[in-house]
Amino acid sequence: MDDSKENKSQAIIEVIDFGPLKISGNFLLKDLKRGNEESPVEVKLCICGKSGNKPYCDESHKNK
Ligand code: FES
Repeated sequence: MDDSKENKSQAIIEVIDFGPLKISGNFLLKDLKRGNEESPVEVKLCICGKSGNKPYCDESHKNK
């Protein structure tokens, strides 16, 4: 992505193979299951299903 497109984005989502989705920028995170809503600057969301701290990644994806 060129710099101009990235600078216009309100949030950047980075896909990490075998790891979490890293989201940074200006966004609202709604955790409907737990009833939480927050506007963090950066989060790593678990997509492997192994985290003990869902929806956040706790690095459990590294365990085989
Ligand atoms: S992606 Fe890291 S614990 Fe699931």
